[in-house]
Amino acid sequence: MTDSAKQKRVDLKKVFVIHGPNLNLLGTRDPDQYGTLTLSKVNTALKKRARELNIEIRIIQTNHEGRIIDILHRRRKWTDAFIINPGAFTHYSYAIRDAIEGIQKPVVEVHLSDIYQREDFRKVSVTKDVCVAQFYGKKVDSYLEALGFLAEHLSSDT
Ligand code: DQA
Repeated sequence: MTDSAKQKRVDLKKVFVIHGPNLNLLGTRDPDQYGTLTLSKVNTALKKRARELNIEIRIIQTNHEGRIIDILHRRRKWTDAFIINPGAFTHYSYAIRDAIEGIQKPVVEVHLSDIYQREDFRKVSVTKDVCVAQFYGKKVDSYLEALGFLAEHLSSDT
């Protein structure tokens, strides 16, 4: 292995992406708010950006609150950071908030839509304060910006 390949390996950071409930419906679900890309296309864009940023990425989607909590607990051992779009759980899940607070890993909150310009119940995020950053309102770019943020954040960590 060349020296630069070795260095790349050392610098490789790991990010685990969690897409929450109803995000499996992307592409057909309210395209004005969420865009026209399917979840699979969003994931392809995330993997491409991750390669460019020298980040190893894993991605999961679940509709279940307890599964999100289990993933945060279990995958914290593998990953350097999480990106999470908690979907509607954002607005009321103190259990997910406590999990994020408890795992002591950087978590970035992401939303495709601008939650601050929608119904009142969406303007509240109970998870935001325990996350290191929040990106919203830019559809797939919200996720890509979160990845860019973590590339910086994690490299300044070491
Ligand atoms: C969302 C916003 C939430 O209010 C909504 O319940 C979602 C998606 C977003 O990505 O914009 O499911 O998190």
